[in-house]
Amino acid sequence: MGRLIIVSNRVPAPRERNQPAGGLAVGLKDALRQGDALWFGWSGRQVPEMSGDPTPAIDRVGNVTYATIDLTTAQHTGFYQNFSNGILWPLFHYRVGLMNYSRLDWEMYLSVNAMFARTLRPLLRPDDTIWIHDYHLFPLGQALRDLGVKCRIGFFLHIPFPPWSLVRALPGAELLLEDMQAYDLVGVQTPEDAENLNHALRMNNMAERAQAFPIGIDPVEFRTQAETSMKGTEVSRLRDSLRGAALVLGVDRLDYSKGLPERFKGYEALLSRYPEHRGRVTFLQVAPISRGNVEEYRQLRCQLDELTGRINGAYSEFDWTPIRYITRPISRDVLAGFYRMADVALITPLRDGMNLVAKEYIAAQDPADPGVLILSHFAGAAPELDEAVLVNPYDTDEIADALHQALTMQRPERQTRWTALEKEVCRTTAVSWANDFLRALDGAPVCVSS
Ligand code: UDP
Ligand code: G6P
Repeated sequence: MGRLIIVSNRVPAPRERNQPAGGLAVGLKDALRQGDALWFGWSGRQVPEMSGDPTPAIDRVGNVTYATIDLTTAQHTGFYQNFSNGILWPLFHYRVGLMNYSRLDWEMYLSVNAMFARTLRPLLRPDDTIWIHDYHLFPLGQALRDLGVKCRIGFFLHIPFPPWSLVRALPGAELLLEDMQAYDLVGVQTPEDAENLNHALRMNNMAERAQAFPIGIDPVEFRTQAETSMKGTEVSRLRDSLRGAALVLGVDRLDYSKGLPERFKGYEALLSRYPEHRGRVTFLQVAPISRGNVEEYRQLRCQLDELTGRINGAYSEFDWTPIRYITRPISRDVLAGFYRMADVALITPLRDGMNLVAKEYIAAQDPADPGVLILSHFAGAAPELDEAVLVNPYDTDEIADALHQALTMQRPERQTRWTALEKEVCRTTAVSWANDFLRALDGAPVCVSS
């Protein structure tokens, strides 16, 4: 059997405990525990300039060979910051008004994709299966085909695919659809995303390619991690510091798609409308800075600094602070214990491809006394996790009501909801997600490969 070649812009540094946060790297890493694989992508480093194409740095850890390349500062700015995260990310999260279109950035995006193809090409063998991930690399399949690659190539989009009427706000959006034709199969997170993408393809007289494959985690390993983390010093320090207050937990990259200002205001509305919770609840928001050089992310950070200060200023007592807000990453191993300790997880993205934090929270719970998941209707995980307390993240009063409901929910109801949710989290795991996709790719009608 041939190797599996994974290609993504973000590749987890294989030997580091503290990984940058992000669902793509987490889900894929959990999925790659079997078979012989090569993972190709960006090293996370920028260099001022480079003569010619980079040479991949190779590192083998377990069954996975990591091949990573540096980007020049100009490539990092045009391809990663501006086009991928300043244009595609807002557009695909339904925030067309935040899109800062520039034709030059599109050119850099294409040129970096072509460079990825040229650098990957010599590492490939004829019987490999190639699986390309996420919006940074839409054109990579075609760029590989142009170099004569005949392997099966699949693509998976980790973020939402909005309706065509919105996507076409991007000048030349049809080119992204044409890129899809180089793939034998395109996977997306939800049936709604699949319908949107297939509809867009039909509208442009192109063949349908999309199927939904919701990504998951390794719930058994995560639960074990949560149990281990409960014995660690971080969890006992957190518990002691709460002095009996209930813990509401949020964990998200600091991203405008996550609905953080609305969430903070929802919590503020809880304190204002349900004063019985004052002094009896603490909201811990872990929000590691992400894409900090993109202007919209900087503005969001200022907004949250201000909101936290305002709410804490208004409601704190000399011995109680309502919001604890951390903009550094916390290792996933430690977070697992925080999830288990938390009475409520407050996960309210305005749009999210999937949201693995929601699944991690469920996996981490103590079955004898589980916490409550409050989840946005607009998380990709919502169709699967519909036994959560579902909210419209734009409605701060609804968030406040949901928090009150969760904080006062009796154990039997918590257990009933959690049992149903846990079943879902165990039904589609990281491994079953990858296997389902690869099986479908293997069986997909050959479109361009021969
Ligand atoms: N995460 C982490 N440390 C942090 C914050 C988040 O390890 O400080 C992890 C989190 O446990 C999850 C991932 O980052 O596995 C976030 O994935 P998710 O799908 O929720 O969102 P994304 O970042 O991909 O938008
Ligand atoms: C989301 C995207 C991933 C990305 C991650 C972290 O999960 O779908 O492609 O890797 O966010 O973002 P970053 O820009 O740090 O890679």
